[in-house]
Amino acid sequence: MKTGLPYERVVDVQRRREEYSRAHMYYRCGLALASVATLLVLAVILQNLLSTRGPSSSQSPVPSPRFPLARAQTCSDPCRVVLVESIPEGLVFNSSTANPAIYQAWLNLIGEARSSLDIASYYWTLTNKDTSTHDPTAHQGEDVLKRLGELAGKLSVRIAVNAQQDKSAADLKLLASYGADIRSVNMQELTSGILHTKFWIVDKKHIFIGSPNMDWRSLTQVKELGAVVYNCSCLAEDLGKIFEAYWFLGQSGQQIPTPWPSSFSTAYNKDTPLQLPLNGTQSSVYLSSSPPSLCAEGRTSDLQSVLSVIQDADEFVYIAVMSYIPIMEYSQPKRYWTEIDTQLRRVAYDKQVKVRMLISHWAHSQPFMVPFLKSLASIHDPKIKLDIQVRLFVVPSTPSQKQIPYARVNHNKYMVTDKIAYISTSNWSGDYFVNTAGSSLVVNQTASQTQEPTVQSQLRAVFERDWDSSYSTPIDHNFQGAI
Ligand SMILES: *[C@@H]1O[C@H](CO)[C@@H](O)[C@H](O)[C@H]1NC(C)=O
Ligand SMILES: *[C@@H]1O[C@H](CO)[C@@H](O)[C@H](O)[C@H]1NC(C)=O
Ligand SMILES: *[C@@H]1O[C@H](CO)[C@@H](O)[C@H](O)[C@H]1NC(C)=O
Ligand SMILES: *[C@@H]1O[C@H](CO)[C@@H](O)[C@H](O)[C@H]1NC(C)=O
Ligand SMILES: *[C@@H]1O[C@H](CO)[C@@H](O)[C@H](O)[C@H]1NC(C)=O
Repeated sequence: MKTGLPYERVVDVQRRREEYSRAHMYYRCGLALASVATLLVLAVILQNLLSTRGPSSSQSPVPSPRFPLARAQTCSDPCRVVLVESIPEGLVFNSSTANPAIYQAWLNLIGEARSSLDIASYYWTLTNKDTSTHDPTAHQGEDVLKRLGELAGKLSVRIAVNAQQDKSAADLKLLASYGADIRSVNMQELTSGILHTKFWIVDKKHIFIGSPNMDWRSLTQVKELGAVVYNCSCLAEDLGKIFEAYWFLGQSGQQIPTPWPSSFSTAYNKDTPLQLPLNGTQSSVYLSSSPPSLCAEGRTSDLQSVLSVIQDADEFVYIAVMSYIPIMEYSQPKRYWTEIDTQLRRVAYDKQVKVRMLISHWAHSQPFMVPFLKSLASIHDPKIKLDIQVRLFVVPSTPSQKQIPYARVNHNKYMVTDKIAYISTSNWSGDYFVNTAGSSLVVNQTASQTQEPTVQSQLRAVFERDWDSSYSTPIDHNFQGAI
């Protein structure tokens, strides 16, 4: 979403690191999990051995796993989840599906804060001044900045930001002058990536996670989606561990620890998710993180979570992401990267799952994106039960909206299947899973146990609204680009 992405400048560092990272770090989260599983199995075996030795052995210390997987998994917090969106000015849907605004959600969170606010962010341009524009719709972003400033004067506000985006940021200078604590994370040095994560943690109790940057355009000129979870300290504490990792790396001269100290470890992952009530419906929930080198023990990597969510679907996989491209697009040389592409083709064939992909098209879309999407869309023949379909979503602009730089685009990043709601911060190309920092909320729910809808059913309704809208065009062999 920003000009001057740091990638070009880091090509040589990248090449050196990649050899290592590909072989070693790529599946580290998986290995960490495997070793936890091994510990558990050992503990169980030992426990069995000891207990068969009779009562006297009950005094012997039974080795326990490094962290209590089975015990800590249930959370009784009265968690409530709210799906929130930014709908760009002028976009009108012929649909009853509507969600509260991200702007409102941010104001609520600021209003709730009593002791602390931690924000993980890519860059900050909340005012017209930052973008050299004079757009009246910047007001909401400017309001958020003002309120954050007031908050920073009263309680602990910590901000982690991508290093190349911090220096000139007037917003951050302002917040620092009010007392906010700011650390720049040099992902370029650390992994040849960027810090692309967008989340908030309030009072170690409420969280926000989703696609919007700390940018006024994300509230009024760019289409975004996120989730707020209120009154959910179990989940907030776990997201806090991801934040602490950024905070740790934001100290100058820091290297990525291998392994991460155990305080960063988590018990919650795709195999042992947190069990908690979301609006009264029992749900399995975990947070995944990328890149793998930032995953402490127990953490599922974002790629593993994407692949497992797709694999787990029985009926449908609906994906809405800004960009989808099976390439390491910011590497030199660029390389073909097939993990997700292969998985989509696999479920479409093996399980006859219906795959729908709603991808954004705008002036800055990668030229390689459309041919690869056409290739996926060609996996479609109802007679033999192959059903992948792709549509491109275009946010139209008036002449004056066209003047706003890097706006008017569908920037959301989520996936919904017959079981899972997956809400993320990452574009879908290789870089975002291999060296860029991002994170995702994965909610696994069966049917609602109350009168309320599930977040999965709400997310599905958002997808269907957008898919069926006049802003979406099926990609076909004649597609020449929508802009
Ligand atoms: C996400 O993808 C789009 C389209 O390829 C690109 O313009 C944008 O810069 C990407 N975002 C980041 C932060 O790299
Ligand atoms: C909205 O959608 C309904 C149902 O698909 C259709 O009957 C109606 O004509 C549409 N209205 C507009 C303004 O597009
Ligand atoms: C969170 O819990 C507090 C205290 O029980 C309650 O007053 C508040 O309404 C809850 N918030 C939400 C969004 O459910
Ligand atoms: C969702 O939960 C079910 C039941 O616990 C489990 O079998 C399945 O693997 C979970 N799916 C994912 C993608 O985590
Ligand atoms: C959960 O509860 C909140 C607050 O009452 C409500 O705004 C939200 O829409 C509910 N979410 C779901 C998925 O029903």
